[in-house]
Amino acid sequence: MQQRTLGAGGPAISAIGLGCMGMSEFYGASDDPQSLATLERALELGINFFDTADTYGFGHNESLLGAWLKAGGPARRQQVVIASKFGIVRQPGKYERRIDNSPAYIRSACDASLQRLGVETIDLYYCHRRNPEVPIEETVGAMAQLVHAGKVQQIGLSEISPDTLRRAHAVHPVAAVQSEYSLWSRDAEAAMLPTCAELGITFVAYSPLGRAFLTGAMHTEQLAEGDFRKHNPRFVGEAEISNGQLVAELGRFASARGLTNAQVALAWLLGKQPHVVPIPGTRRVAYLEQNAGAAEVLLNREEIGELDRMFAAERVAGARYPEAGMAGIE
Ligand SMILES: NC(=O)c1ccc[n+]([C@@H]2O[C@H](COP(=O)([O-])OP(=O)(O)OC[C@H]3O[C@@H](n4cnc5c(N)ncnc54)[C@H](OP(=O)(O)O)[C@@H]3O)[C@@H](O)[C@H]2O)c1
Repeated sequence: MQQRTLGAGGPAISAIGLGCMGMSEFYGASDDPQSLATLERALELGINFFDTADTYGFGHNESLLGAWLKAGGPARRQQVVIASKFGIVRQPGKYERRIDNSPAYIRSACDASLQRLGVETIDLYYCHRRNPEVPIEETVGAMAQLVHAGKVQQIGLSEISPDTLRRAHAVHPVAAVQSEYSLWSRDAEAAMLPTCAELGITFVAYSPLGRAFLTGAMHTEQLAEGDFRKHNPRFVGEAEISNGQLVAELGRFASARGLTNAQVALAWLLGKQPHVVPIPGTRRVAYLEQNAGAAEVLLNREEIGELDRMFAAERVAGARYPEAGMAGIE
């Protein structure tokens, strides 16, 4: 697996990471043995960058990763780079959220994450969502204290603006920004990608497969009750039909090259900029292997341009989140 660097002078990470969220919540039922097998296979494939958060499954996701790390002993801990997040506070069973960025909350959230993960330090610790009522300097100051205490190695921010990033970076070096970025979610291209490049910050692309929609393998009417996508504006009604036509175009582009939609979507991200690291999520070994294969796919400038035009913003229907999900997004 080709590698990229996490922030300026940080550890080498696989060019494609593994998003673990779906192993605990949002995309249907969890199956821990299947998830553990997927984590195991990821490492065999050279994937060493694992993404979780305290809110995923209300701690379940971090505990699952912790159990897997423990089973592998100290050697496994050395092999992996674990990223987690704080800041989204929800009631069990509810999607609605409150954003907490207060220093006292950050300290207690970090201790709870360390305990669930069963590690002494979190390699990359993100503020999951920003609360604009707390100055970013205060939030990052509290995160920097965690670095000084050895509880965290590097810090990151999710779904923030370039201005906030510059203010944060002036307080303590930010290693990574994580935001949604995929063929159908391109906001990051205007200002965030260049800002990260200028500051030596890795851009971690979440939901790089459009939460499975871009793969062409999912259909909203088949989703289980409680699946978050049933209420996502891009997945329902007229938007689903219109976006489905774009995915059909992507399917023709992919099959003409002997690739899957997922592989093209990931190779497009890798081909965009050398500081972009997609973290596709999957619970299944078969999808994982397919996604890892994208690291070997090289799209040329013309192909990247064709895909850019195929998924131009005006061709994509619907917002990327329901209203409640926009809380804390800058
Ligand atoms: N910072 C944030 O606010 C934020 C928000 C969302 C996500 N994230 C992180 O980003 C990670 C990835 O995002 P995501 O999980 O939302 O979306 P994603 O990676 O775009 O898509 C995941 C979905 O695609 C399916 N899938 C994966 N590979 C496939 C393939 N080759 N063919 C067909 N289907 C495939 C998965 O199915 P199965 O699960 O059934 O395998 C799952 O339903 C998350 O796991 C999480 O760690 C961060």
